[in-house]
Amino acid sequence: MNRRDFMLSTMMAALVPHMSRAKNGEFNLRAEEIDVSLIPNFQTQTKMFGFNGSMPGPEIRLKKGKSATILVENALEEGTAVHWHGIRLNNAMDGVPMMTQSIIEPSSSMRYEFTPPDAGTFWYHSHYISQEQVAKGLMGPLIIEDDQAIDVDHDITALFSDWLIDASGQLSEKFMDTHSVAHAGYMGNFARAFLSQKSVYKGDRIRLRLINAATNRIFPIGLRGARGALVALDGMSLRDPRPIEDLVLAPAQRIDVIVDVDEEIKIELLMREGAFELGALEVTGVNSLRVQSDISPLPTHDIKPFGKYHRQLTLNLQGGAMGAAHGGDNIWSLNDVSDLSHTPWNTFELGEVVRIKLVNQTAFPHGIHLHGHHFYELNSDGSLGDLRDTTLILANSSRDILCRFDNRGNWLLHCHMLSHSIGGMRTWIRVV
Ligand code: C2O
Ligand code: CU
Repeated sequence: MNRRDFMLSTMMAALVPHMSRAKNGEFNLRAEEIDVSLIPNFQTQTKMFGFNGSMPGPEIRLKKGKSATILVENALEEGTAVHWHGIRLNNAMDGVPMMTQSIIEPSSSMRYEFTPPDAGTFWYHSHYISQEQVAKGLMGPLIIEDDQAIDVDHDITALFSDWLIDASGQLSEKFMDTHSVAHAGYMGNFARAFLSQKSVYKGDRIRLRLINAATNRIFPIGLRGARGALVALDGMSLRDPRPIEDLVLAPAQRIDVIVDVDEEIKIELLMREGAFELGALEVTGVNSLRVQSDISPLPTHDIKPFGKYHRQLTLNLQGGAMGAAHGGDNIWSLNDVSDLSHTPWNTFELGEVVRIKLVNQTAFPHGIHLHGHHFYELNSDGSLGDLRDTTLILANSSRDILCRFDNRGNWLLHCHMLSHSIGGMRTWIRVV
């Protein structure tokens, strides 16, 4: 497929299935090879990876504060592991091979058990050879429900990604292509959204959970046919809903909006060449019962603001094409070290608050993700900005974050452009 096909292919509704619990109350995720009708109007199915016969994997809904068990079975011919992105969970359940668990070998399984402390929009994905396994489809939505009901008619997930498809309709296997690793990463020529339902009524008020599951692409999103407010970022509610202006999602980021439906809702990827439709919610009726009202904030999250910090650190993002020389031995590095060293980048005392300056010395944007924690982005005056688990730092710019390391264990800190991560832009920290 060329760029023109990318622009012209028309979207049909693609659904992400819901998942119910097994009789014993557990969720079951079976990783396997599947054939997917990924490209509309294209006869050939694409060979991918999925969970329970589906790509993306089914939507898992858990309750905030309630322990959950998810049995991951590996029916692939290679190892795997599943990471529950953004959940502040026990280190042992974080899904990182060689750091928090061993690889789930073919024909074996692992039982993940954790209690999600925050209600919101999260996702799960493979964390083993992830630049390849996530690109092949090992990912899905993970929704943590609040016990407080929210005043909307529908709660809808829209997970999107892009894929690099060759002329025969199969995924390009160039997951490790050095040129793309050194630039913006393995990038698709086709993109679409998978929605948890197909249609709504005019007049409905809906919550829409946007999830960027792409391995490398930043998605600037346009929403047509609805108006409303942005209410949460990376699973964490905003105290004050804000107008929907630039919806930009780095890989792994999430945005929740609450909107009122005027007409068919179109979710668009805004590209230089124009808007490309990722998916749509048809209008099949009229909701005349909904009374117009302001959009109220979601229930508040439980992370207390913290201002004072004990330590200040700098993390330089280095390397890549057109980047200055650096001391790492891979394409990218963090403070002159590529990939995971034997010792952590830093060790923090439980509860320690640290201000970290992320300095992007490269010619590319990076989305930096810290496992097991959420952190504040700091505004230029040092005041607390948004609470996130993945922060986007544009080329040749910097961002300060404030983190309270309150979760014991060994945690990854890496670029969520997965090509950059495999190209060296990853490290780890320890909380003791
Ligand atoms: Cu979304 Cu290290 O992961
Ligand atoms: Cu990066």
